[in-house]
Amino acid sequence: MEFKELMMARRSVRGYSAGIDHETLVEILKQAQQAPSWKNQQTSRCYAVETPEILEDLRASALPSFNQNSSAHAALIVTTYVKNVVGFNGETPVNEIGNGWGAYDLGLHDAYLTLAAANAGYDTLIMGIRDADVIREKLRIPENEEIMSVIAVGKRSAEPSVRPRKELDEVVRFF
Ligand SMILES: Cc1cc2nc3c(=O)[nH]c(=O)nc-3n(C[C@H](O)[C@H](O)[C@H](O)COP(=O)(O)O)c2cc1C
Repeated sequence: MEFKELMMARRSVRGYSAGIDHETLVEILKQAQQAPSWKNQQTSRCYAVETPEILEDLRASALPSFNQNSSAHAALIVTTYVKNVVGFNGETPVNEIGNGWGAYDLGLHDAYLTLAAANAGYDTLIMGIRDADVIREKLRIPENEEIMSVIAVGKRSAEPSVRPRKELDEVVRFF
């Protein structure tokens, strides 16, 4: 698929028949690493959950029921970033954004990840509504990492709805 077509075709999918094989998942995670990051500091981290028992436990305990239903049968990738590194000079924030830069880098990483998955024939759902404390405990995620999203990855069972985008002139100003 052409890159433009891929970008236009990617959708958030809320119904899966299966997850993803390990080798393809590794390939997608490697492609996501090609995302740009502040000073190439690469503070984005992934916790890829494939083991059925761990998956079901995490889904049931860390996701609200609507996200549990949407992600059933899919693998889950928890994404985090290491805090107080990107956008910092030692302990001092470089500017007013502070750790927002770590979140920015992780967003870029996750965008690459969703497009790499789409290119490999898999769908994704980024979920920001999740219980970070439960995830931290279950996956033993260190306190210096900010837990952001849980991303479902798998084969779609339901056709996604196409969410409209705003008119360009609502969101872009040319000078
Ligand atoms: C940071 C972030 C958090 C999101 N959290 C959720 C979520 O918890 N549950 C859900 O069903 N969709 C979630 N979404 C998906 C958005 O609703 C979706 O991207 C948006 O409606 C546009 O649809 P599309 O991705 O199909 O183009 C999230 C998306 C992003 C980027």
